[in-house]
Amino acid sequence: MLERLANKRILLGVTGSIAAYKAAEIVRRLRETGTEVRVVMTRAATEFVTPMTFQALSGNPVHLELLDAQAEAAMGHIELARWADAILVAPASANFLARLREGRADDLLGALCLAKDVPLILAPAMNNRMWRDHATQDNLQTLKSRGVLVFGPDEGSQACGETGTGRLQEPSNIVAQLADIFKGGALDGLRVLLTAGPTQEAIDPVRYISNHSSGKMGYALATAAMEAGARVTLVSGPVSLAPPAGVQVIPVTTAVQMAKAVMAQLNATDIFIATAAVADYRPAEVADEKIKKSAENLTLNLTRNPDILRTAKQTMPGVYCVGFAAETTDVMNHARAKLTDKGVEMIAANLVGTAAGDSGFGSDNNTLILCTRESEVTLPLAPKNKIAREVITHVARLYPLWRQTRKDSAQILRFGKPPIS
Ligand code: CTP
Repeated sequence: MLERLANKRILLGVTGSIAAYKAAEIVRRLRETGTEVRVVMTRAATEFVTPMTFQALSGNPVHLELLDAQAEAAMGHIELARWADAILVAPASANFLARLREGRADDLLGALCLAKDVPLILAPAMNNRMWRDHATQDNLQTLKSRGVLVFGPDEGSQACGETGTGRLQEPSNIVAQLADIFKGGALDGLRVLLTAGPTQEAIDPVRYISNHSSGKMGYALATAAMEAGARVTLVSGPVSLAPPAGVQVIPVTTAVQMAKAVMAQLNATDIFIATAAVADYRPAEVADEKIKKSAENLTLNLTRNPDILRTAKQTMPGVYCVGFAAETTDVMNHARAKLTDKGVEMIAANLVGTAAGDSGFGSDNNTLILCTRESEVTLPLAPKNKIAREVITHVARLYPLWRQTRKDSAQILRFGKPPIS
């Protein structure tokens, strides 16, 4: 279960409580699972533990001040909120609960909690009477009603010498519950096939035609599909990314190899997501030896590569197919045309090139418009792993509806009347 935390980005908020020292153990355990951790401390927290401890354990600088020009230049507070997959505040003091309820943004952690659009989890720790107090309980109920998750607190002996409810949950418990947040399930039992990255089309033994695709979007989608419970196969062109844990990767170089690998897998596929930037053409002939320069101009004769997505849809109409439209202009028109032309269920329209700014090829961020025959959904600029999860959520929602519609129309064709539902 803890492997769900691998490669996740957790922003850990530490507030002023004697239990702050236990947050160090949380960071250590998170790091052991391969989680990226950034720590934000309130001023009161630094009275209990030094930032240096968290810096050493997390491997990242600790964020302390809202108006720190140097820290803002490195990673602004809005960027930091957007960086995270979840925000965990452990320990969360009674004072912090009150401030959070009020929506105070006069320190860094408060501002981050307002700017976030990811799960916010609190692990409270305080004296048992402070915990029981009406004000604290009232704050807690309000926060819960706003969707804030609360882990603990535990019952037992407290630092103040009293016994009761208010102890920070054990770090191992907190980490285990955090992993649960990332449990998928939306694609449980389904088989997802993806293509990713560029293809390379040889000109001669040392040169090739290719493009700027980094493969990041495809790899993020493969990870998101795996996290959602799917069995995932990723046919990948040459990229410099580590294979995602739990995903079967089939490395290929050329479009023809990619097409063959996809066709071989299609029989055992429910959903096919084509993110690869497949070279549309390859040199008609590959020179056996390195081409030496001689004439002023050199003309390469190119031949069309197979359209993998179109062929996949034609071969297996029962596979739900998602394509990407990587365009430098007029994205929506091209996307709609590709939806019809390739006969697929969804096209994710993707602006690339200089107009894309901080998104598209090579970037860690992306923005997409998911285009189906019935709807258009915009996914605003966000890290590719977040966008990937949103795409998977949409696909998981639409896939069963599409299956049902196919079944219904097959029945109408066979029996001439709609099925009884
Ligand atoms: N695609 C594919 N095989 C190809 C070309 C494209 O599977 N030979 C897939 C891509 O992975 C993507 C979608 O088709 O999901 C659209 O790719 P794109 O390059 O945007 O469009 P093309 O069909 O190549 O058309 P054009 O280059 O003219 O825009």
